[in-house]
Amino acid sequence: MWQMMAISFFIFSYAWPVDAVLSAGCISAAEQYQLNLTQLLMLSRRVLLSKKDLDYHERARFGPLLDAVFRHREDLLLPEDCPCAVLVASSVLIGLEATHIASGDHNTNMEHTKAFHRMALLQKAIKKSSETCSMSEARVWPAVQALDVFGDTYSAMIERMQNLQQWMMDFQEEAPITDEQHIQALADAAFALEGFEWWPCRGTLIALLRHGKRSGRLSNDKVDVVDHDVDIMVGIASHEDWIRKRFGVQDRLVERGWSHCFERYSVAIERHSNDKEFLLVRGDLFLCVRYNPQFTLDIGTYLTEGSIAYAQKYCIPGSGCWLPHDGSLRGSHGRLRISAIRPQGLCKAGPLSVPCPRKPLETLQATMFGVNFTRHCVALPDVARRLERDHYDSDRDPWLSEGLTQEDVDILWQRAADLDKEGYMSMTPYLRGCSSLRYATTPLP
Ligand SMILES: *[C@@H]1O[C@H](CO)[C@@H](O)[C@H](O)[C@H]1NC(C)=O
Ligand SMILES: *[C@@H]1O[C@H](CO)[C@@H](O)[C@H](O)[C@H]1NC(C)=O
Repeated sequence: MWQMMAISFFIFSYAWPVDAVLSAGCISAAEQYQLNLTQLLMLSRRVLLSKKDLDYHERARFGPLLDAVFRHREDLLLPEDCPCAVLVASSVLIGLEATHIASGDHNTNMEHTKAFHRMALLQKAIKKSSETCSMSEARVWPAVQALDVFGDTYSAMIERMQNLQQWMMDFQEEAPITDEQHIQALADAAFALEGFEWWPCRGTLIALLRHGKRSGRLSNDKVDVVDHDVDIMVGIASHEDWIRKRFGVQDRLVERGWSHCFERYSVAIERHSNDKEFLLVRGDLFLCVRYNPQFTLDIGTYLTEGSIAYAQKYCIPGSGCWLPHDGSLRGSHGRLRISAIRPQGLCKAGPLSVPCPRKPLETLQATMFGVNFTRHCVALPDVARRLERDHYDSDRDPWLSEGLTQEDVDILWQRAADLDKEGYMSMTPYLRGCSSLRYATTPLP
């Protein structure tokens, strides 16, 4: 969708109509404001009417001219001045803004905010000038094509917003998925992220270490369902590189039946709405969704520097950069030691093997803020939290009546030993650490 909007600068390849001349109003405005509107007319006709690149020198003249016309928009808007020039210049500029956004030239929220502000001004100028650009003038200026560019840009922006809003509405509630669908999503992720360093995190990582899949059967028909969506972390070379490559990631997911992906931030907007820092945030999350069943693949990206991985780094030109204690890795002050990730091991995911981080607990502590892994042993189901979160139809549900039993713990030890035997990472090291804790949670009365 975004690629469609990219405006290319194309060479004019057919004869000029002889009557492509400026109106008296445009000539007079050109003189008064020192704008070469003849040149604007010529170059905008090339760009909007035909299909080949402008050369370097033409671009160098076109850019400043577009800006100058936009700066003088209020002076040119009356029908007897040169409103079509404003319409054409603003449309080319809005197309360029959209192209910059789509190709990831804006890395921080500040840059995005500024771009959206400029686009709002451009939109206003387009609306006003299209009301006063007359039919006869519009035959000289490429006004129809200008409005097409605006229309494409606008609907792409709307679509982007709708994708986000739709996701927020649809994914308020976690839909039930099966273990097979969960594994399939991991297989799709592996396919889409070939060539990247990646690993499951949060609930997905716990599930694979504990059961080698999304859920596991314990005693008395209890099922420990650990995970509801698929969470992964992806190492990227740079934000720019990721922006370029993530189109390919999305394409490959779409190929496998996913709907679309969109960018978000791991820094909570609510906590930052009045905060200048929020303007420095990069879009480090890439959420991919599919329907039937409804399901999110939650991709968090990180960069590395020296021995540290981080998701967010704020930079203020002139005064330097710092790693905020925020974002995906805020459980460990916004950074993670690379030795917690590499060299990667293997986790079992049903019939698949997927890469896993070297020190899983360290990555869980970094990515699952709010969970106290000292109080709660990561190797064992958190029965209290499960009771809080899930609905149980009957008092006779064994999670309610008996909680976690010694038999369950024995099953988990055995499962970990089986994973070890097959060469996979498991909960064995953490079960050892848990054994001194009281594992059984008092059942509800
Ligand atoms: C305007 O641009 C055209 C085309 O580049 C050029 O021939 C002309 O001399 C320019 N006019 C002025 C007043 O600079
Ligand atoms: C985590 O739990 C342990 C043991 O209950 C407790 O001593 C510690 O203060 C807790 N840490 C936090 C950050 O709540």
